[in-house]
Amino acid sequence: MNNSSGMWSSRLIFVLAAAGSAVGLGNIWRFPYVTGENGGGVFVIAYLLCIAVIGLPIMIAEIVLGRAGRSSPISSMQILARRSYANSGWQLIGWMGVIAGFMILSFYSVIAGWALAYLIKMMQGLFVEIDSVAAESLFENFIGSPQRLIFWHTAFMSLTIIITARGVGRGLEKAVKFLMPGLFFLLVLLVFWAAATSGHFLEGLDFMFSPKPEDFSGDSVFLAMGQAFFTLSLGMGAIMAYGAYLPQSSGIASSALTIGVLDTIVALLSGMIIFPIVFANQLEPSAGPGLMFVSLPLAFGNMLGGQIFGSLFFLLVTFAAITSAISISEPAIAWLSEKRRLSRAASAYLIGFLAWILGLGSALSFNIMNEFTLLPDKTFFDSMDFLSNNILLPFGGILISLFVGWRLDKEILSSQLSEVPSWLLKSLVFSLRFVAPGGIFLVIAMTFVS
Ligand code: PFF
Repeated sequence: MNNSSGMWSSRLIFVLAAAGSAVGLGNIWRFPYVTGENGGGVFVIAYLLCIAVIGLPIMIAEIVLGRAGRSSPISSMQILARRSYANSGWQLIGWMGVIAGFMILSFYSVIAGWALAYLIKMMQGLFVEIDSVAAESLFENFIGSPQRLIFWHTAFMSLTIIITARGVGRGLEKAVKFLMPGLFFLLVLLVFWAAATSGHFLEGLDFMFSPKPEDFSGDSVFLAMGQAFFTLSLGMGAIMAYGAYLPQSSGIASSALTIGVLDTIVALLSGMIIFPIVFANQLEPSAGPGLMFVSLPLAFGNMLGGQIFGSLFFLLVTFAAITSAISISEPAIAWLSEKRRLSRAASAYLIGFLAWILGLGSALSFNIMNEFTLLPDKTFFDSMDFLSNNILLPFGGILISLFVGWRLDKEILSSQLSEVPSWLLKSLVFSLRFVAPGGIFLVIAMTFVS
């Protein structure tokens, strides 16, 4: 067993750490803009369905695999395939996770770097009494500068590496205990503020919750599923890696439910903050990745105490991003430090450095490489995002659910889920055998046929 990262000291810490992994840029930055680009209500309903029907069973499956294997995802899959007399090829799940992790960490760090930069800008008071035109041009100028994006990408990646190098127990555990409740508190505060002051709160809610059939397309469902995987950190072994440090006596199913509910609440609350502000200031909900970096600073800049609240908000976004980034690199770091006899710190530096190099492509795709397309019509950044979230994570999800549903030794499964009543265990297995993989497959097939 890989002990270099230690164990979570309680179930609560595991839930907070996994929620820290789940709650991140995916909720506060990506969810609102992808929802905006995909017509609002239809997207949100498809997303919630994907979380409930596909996401939760797979989250339980990942935690089971992690805790039963008690190693990095690659080694856990090797061990469990052997103990279940299954083909050793199932370790592909772990390898795909490492690749997806590199891709996600690379662009994640670029965007988290934006949050870090905006934290400083907020503190400097650059947004005080700003109007929407100025907020937009400030953002355009910022992402137009390769030097600045690379600088902040480097800064964020360095922070991540410093923490991952120290191991999960020492740095992360303490941080999530304070940061997660703090983030939650501020989000609620801001929702009240948006409701009270924007004058467009209901319009924002309407945009998120009333489905408009004319916006319905196979693509929306496909993207909703990718978002569900991304936001719950599923399909790439991050939750599996965290599950490996979960004490034996803790309940898995109830933990997964708590993590899923917390994550969903944060995404919806973020939408409830951002959309009313968007409508109040005549911004476009479909403004793309810049949505959070234009609408929120604009709002903060024009509210009482906005400089402080805005700084606090971007500080918390940064921390939410850090607690996620750490988990994205955990499968690769855990594997390197257990197999290759590299120290935990050396593994963390190496993984972080490789992801940093890949991230340069994303940083440059907002400026000097913005004409360059890797996939048709997609910049380097868009390609990384699409390939990881919409292809690798769902495909990883199919394999994880098939393995746990069909191949994992039944005794291992039931001993990990001993607290679960038998009807629930049976429904879980049914879901992992048919519903989750079938659903993912159908959504992918629909997209490629349409
Ligand atoms: N769940 C994170 C977010 O919503 O920002 C992103 C993420 C973390 C994706 C960990 C994948 C992962 F393994």
